[in-house]
Amino acid sequence: MAKQLIMPPDDLAARLDYMRKVRMWNADALETRKVYVQTFGCQQNEADSEKYLGMAVDMGYEPTDTPDNADLIIVNTCAIREHAEKKALSIIGQYKHVKAKNKDLIIGVCGCMVAQEHRREELKMKYPYVTFTLGTASLHHLPRVLWEAIESKKRLITADSTEDFTETVAEGMPVRRGSDYRAWVSIMYGCNNFCSYCIVPYVRGRERSRDKADIITEVRKLVSEGYKDITLLGQNVNSYGKGTDTDFADLLAEIDTIEGDFWLRFMTSHPKDASHKLIDVMANGKHIAHQFHLPLQSGSDPVLKAMNRHYDMERYMDSVRYMREKMPDVTITSDIIVGFPGETEEQFEETLKALADVRFDMLYSFIYSPRKGTPAAEKEQVPDVVKGNRFDRLLAAQNEIALSKNQPLVGATLRVLCDGVSKGDESVYSGRTEGNKIVFFKGTSDMIGNFVNVEINKAEAFALWGDIQK
Ligand code: SAH
Ligand code: SF4
Ligand code: F3S
Repeated sequence: MAKQLIMPPDDLAARLDYMRKVRMWNADALETRKVYVQTFGCQQNEADSEKYLGMAVDMGYEPTDTPDNADLIIVNTCAIREHAEKKALSIIGQYKHVKAKNKDLIIGVCGCMVAQEHRREELKMKYPYVTFTLGTASLHHLPRVLWEAIESKKRLITADSTEDFTETVAEGMPVRRGSDYRAWVSIMYGCNNFCSYCIVPYVRGRERSRDKADIITEVRKLVSEGYKDITLLGQNVNSYGKGTDTDFADLLAEIDTIEGDFWLRFMTSHPKDASHKLIDVMANGKHIAHQFHLPLQSGSDPVLKAMNRHYDMERYMDSVRYMREKMPDVTITSDIIVGFPGETEEQFEETLKALADVRFDMLYSFIYSPRKGTPAAEKEQVPDVVKGNRFDRLLAAQNEIALSKNQPLVGATLRVLCDGVSKGDESVYSGRTEGNKIVFFKGTSDMIGNFVNVEINKAEAFALWGDIQK
């Protein structure tokens, strides 16, 4: 395991100094400067954006919910599929007009997309109004880069340093959370798995874990502040602490001893090392939600091999069986990719069979998108029409399964964490169950952010409906 730097104190001092400089510069402004942060991608990016916003607020910016009146725009990008990159680039393109109205506007493009050299080049050449880029591993350099941009009025389009990309775990950053009852807590960064289709290891760097004590302190604080749904984040949480004398199951068990009324979740777990030990900790836990997101990707062993996933269907089914044995109420969800290079009709049908065998509560399905620099992108591709057809068949199969998983819940009373008014009807509220299923019910505003009991009276594939029980 690489040597791990937990933010050397010199860096921390320098960072605080840059923050102070920007804060003083902002204090001199006639009008309070505003920051707008836009996030694409996964929960990891959401968690990073909360740090970007936290740092910006600490440096004297006021959050705004529109880019039009912002003085600092941060676009936190995703590179997982081509669509995600296109969306980000199109939004960045629109900021040209905002910049035209405010020449002092600073635009930073951060996150996974800009960790790729060809995207940085593209931003440099075609998006001259973008001020700076920061890769995922450079997040903690925002104060310095911002100050340099302010002082020099130059563009700073740079890559992550090798040290940041492979070793640094930055601690002590201010966080501005998007919710006061649901929270993300990153426990590790990066990924070493190199699944053959995936860009993440190239854009998020090598696996590095946070110190256990730091994580526990953060969760303890969240619980004392009233947070009720806490998700531990990592690209492969099972890699937590690799090379040390602790592991993810131990971490989870220790966090579970924290007193309070909260759900504890984690994502994502890789099937190759989702252990019985981890499942036992979940089953015996007090706070750990009986919900497991275990991305299968494909139901065909040769495709799993070509994907470099290091497990087969037998191994996967063993985890599923053990989970259901220890936690009969467990909700199991997954990710599937259709149209991986070389996937045959028979191999796709094996995925349909896997769906029927496992019976997932929910599925996130994706059409394979070639990612530059990954091995699978070089292989012969499945035609788009075939991909589309398989995608539709997968969705249809899963809809039936999801409905049949939800229907038996009619008549049950479930504990639901209320999120707020649903879109479209002001008297209907929505929330999430321990298994992360969406529930709609007639509610009142005092329920937001609190647990309520809902008796389910209707079930569809994607949601449940019910009445509040006192
Ligand atoms: N670290 C997590 C997943 C991260 S990406 C894990 O290993 O499970 C989330 C999902 O995006 C993946 O599970 C996969 O299903 C999908 N995905 C990743 N790369 C993709 C690609 N090139 N095309 C389509 N889907 C992809
Ligand atoms: Fe990508 Fe595989 Fe790492 Fe998940 S485990 S982030 S799919 S390389
Ligand atoms: Fe996207 Fe990066 Fe997450 S590529 S899915 S934002 S790790």
